[in-house]
Amino acid sequence: MRILLLCHSFNSLTQRLHVELRERGHAVSVELDINDDVTREAVELFRPDLVIASFLKRAIPGDVWQRVRCLIVHPGIRGDRGPSALDWAILDGMPRWGVTLIEAIEEMDAGPVWAFREFPMRTAPKSSLYRNEVTAAALECVLEAIAAIESGATEAPVASAGGVPPPPMRPLCGRAHRTLDLSRDPTEKVLRVVRSADGDPGAVATLFGRAVRVFDAHPAPGLAGEPGKALARCGPAIAFATVDGAVWIGHAKEDGPRQLKLPAATLFAAESAALPERTGFPMIDYREQDGAGFLAFPFYNGAMGTQACRDLLAAYRNALARPTRVLVLTGGEDFWSNGMDLALIEAAHSPAEESWANINAIDDVVRAIIETEDRLTVSVLRGNAGAGGFFLALAADEVWMGGHVVANPHYKDMGNLYGSEYCTYLLPHRVGPTNAERLTKVRWPMGIAEAERLGLVQCRLPDGHEAIAAEIRQRAVALAGAPDFAERLAAKQARRRADEAALPLSAYRDAELTRMRRNFFGFDPSYHVARYNFIRKIGKSHTPLTLATHRSRRAYR
Ligand code: COA
Repeated sequence: MRILLLCHSFNSLTQRLHVELRERGHAVSVELDINDDVTREAVELFRPDLVIASFLKRAIPGDVWQRVRCLIVHPGIRGDRGPSALDWAILDGMPRWGVTLIEAIEEMDAGPVWAFREFPMRTAPKSSLYRNEVTAAALECVLEAIAAIESGATEAPVASAGGVPPPPMRPLCGRAHRTLDLSRDPTEKVLRVVRSADGDPGAVATLFGRAVRVFDAHPAPGLAGEPGKALARCGPAIAFATVDGAVWIGHAKEDGPRQLKLPAATLFAAESAALPERTGFPMIDYREQDGAGFLAFPFYNGAMGTQACRDLLAAYRNALARPTRVLVLTGGEDFWSNGMDLALIEAAHSPAEESWANINAIDDVVRAIIETEDRLTVSVLRGNAGAGGFFLALAADEVWMGGHVVANPHYKDMGNLYGSEYCTYLLPHRVGPTNAERLTKVRWPMGIAEAERLGLVQCRLPDGHEAIAAEIRQRAVALAGAPDFAERLAAKQARRRADEAALPLSAYRDAELTRMRRNFFGFDPSYHVARYNFIRKIGKSHTPLTLATHRSRRAYR
């Protein structure tokens, strides 16, 4: 089928559909919902059999859905209508939620239903539910609808999303529903409201007398004080007392348009400096079991700033000092890594200098992993990975990846950023120069099937958080006790020495950083403009030609 993905932005759910539909042989193109005429033009150019509106913030023009069947992914159960489906589900404490695939008609979210799925709600931020449960359910719905259409169905199996007449639309979840008063609110409410608004638009609160939006909230057991007052700091986070305990706030931004979401301890640098240090906010964590070490680094949004990289390198070195045979790097549950922290770079006095410091800090981590000779290393991608974050994973001897994970093994979308993280060593060595060049050029998201075909991944992890955790432990312990462990280690050491003799690691790094220096400090400001737009969420004015293949003269693959 010819399938056009129509979306407000090419977000994680849309990327997953892009990956899975291409994998099943469909011709897929993407158009960002920029204006109605652009959408009409896309339909005219691509002539799709089906439009899937994977993530839209407004209605599809009537003449478009009258011309071609348009199916809308609604992140809500059957009968739910409105733009804040998941937000309300979290605020209302719904035990189950779902996704409904609705055909576009005149009335919003009220059309015939092609498929629906439900799932138990997890205690997690909205964005995490969206990237995991919602995305998985949406994919199943889309595949079910396509199968029905391919087998000749002309009408949806369920005539209407919510019955006739349809139930009323739920309103947009507004400021009043998202506003916190830490001096009056209990911990449970604070956590629920923040989760319902995380990653966007954040819960409204007043901290240190400033109106802010807060994100990344976690319980702070053991801490208490005068409600509303700051109690302690831990890494990026600050703990605030509530009426019945305390919460950690990891990230915040000034309340207003185009503000930067930053670690709370950075946004309130002076205030947090005066607070006592405590532990308790989820950060880099090291554990051991039966000869295997497990190093987790759940950085918010997978962003690895300069200090985060230095902390990770120190933790990595400490882990190397332990008597283990296998070291497993597990990143975070939602993201493995998205490379340099573009928000901290954007906030820096000199973004160019901070970019330079950040790329060097992440390169140091990658080099330490590549140069680990006395044990086997594994990168476990439990969540998505992008740009330098993906190449960081390739530094390990093996990569294990969840079937749901989407990787973006390229940098160029960030204003033609050249990239570092030893990518010019790691990628061609794994996939060969031709594939390395192709991946860099197409700039498409990659799923597990392609990663396996290319030999980038050695193990596909099962579905579900607990199943993944159990599998990682069991595989790591088995690897540490494998009968051929010594041979594998010897082979790895020999390979590294041969590679080093052919071209030292430092030469790859120098060459990459020469190009990066130009990106950061040179005359062409593309990287700085792209970073500004990305991190401040400036909408794109056109769909990149790599995605809108109907607009591109170059045919990919
Ligand atoms: N630094 C800071 N924040 C980042 C980030 C980074 N490197 N990468 C992603 N984020 C943030 C986004 O701003 C977004 O923030 P929000 O919570 O305020 O909405 C959040 O992480 C999720 O990102 P999003 O783009 O919505 O996720 P996605 O899964 O749809 O897309 C990527 C994944 C990797 C394609 C996309 O995030 C991306 O291009 N990131 C930049 C990668 C990069 O160029 N890194 C620098 C070079 S090493």
